[in-house]
Amino acid sequence: MGCMSTIVVANVTKTYKKKKEVVRALSGIDLTVDEGEFLVIKGESGSGKSTLLSIIGGLEAPTSGQVLVNGEDIPKLNDNRLSAFRGSTIGFVFQGFHLHPYLTLRQNIELPAMFAGVSLSERYKNTDSLAVFLGLGKRLSHLPSELSGGQIQRAAILRAVYNRPSIILADEPTGNLDKKNSLAVLELLKKINQELKATVVLATHDSLADGYADRCLAMKDISRHED
Ligand SMILES: Nc1ncnc2c1ncn2[C@@H]1O[C@H](COP(=O)(O)OP(=O)(O)OP(=O)(O)O)[C@@H](O)[C@H]1O
Ligand SMILES: [Mg+2]
Repeated sequence: MGCMSTIVVANVTKTYKKKKEVVRALSGIDLTVDEGEFLVIKGESGSGKSTLLSIIGGLEAPTSGQVLVNGEDIPKLNDNRLSAFRGSTIGFVFQGFHLHPYLTLRQNIELPAMFAGVSLSERYKNTDSLAVFLGLGKRLSHLPSELSGGQIQRAAILRAVYNRPSIILADEPTGNLDKKNSLAVLELLKKINQELKATVVLATHDSLADGYADRCLAMKDISRHED
């Protein structure tokens, strides 16, 4: 494991303005994540976990503060460089993965690569090896309606690691799952962390994740101001 910081968040705030109301979602977050680390971020509902992951992944811009990922100043990237950064560096795992109902699992997983012009044989090779790695080998020709919730969540993980990102951002990846499937998802994320050497940042209020973390932080402990 390297000890270089792969993510540096410094005094990041985020406010949302809704008509006259101002919602402060993040109030001065400081966080550094080491390369290869498995970090769990805890915090009650509304504490800003999803907002923080979206900002680290370049899906949303901070209102103020600094965000460096692999040395890149994320808020300063233009749209093209930002989508290139997301595609190559970040894998997102969200709760409630949306699969197209009329496409097989394989087609769902390969859709972005297909649009990116990756050849059929290369797509098949990549999907097959990841499906074996993640225990989804026999399910690739199934339609979403023929899959269990746990299998769909594993498919979401497969899609997230498809481009071998160096960072996985997982937002409540076990949110809708029972204990057995939750543990299976956490095991897979740990395996990806250890064997594919990806840094994992996982936001959750599920204590099941604590045992998988190298480090566990609470939102209130990384916020400069409480409000
Ligand atoms: N697009 C938005 N517009 C306005 N307010 C928002 C928006 N997104 C988030 N918020 C507000 O920002 C705060 C933080 O939300 P966030 O979703 O980041 O919390 P969370 O910790 O992920 O919560 P949960 O555990 O319920 O997922 C909340 O008060 C939320 O209502
Ligand atoms: Mg959330």
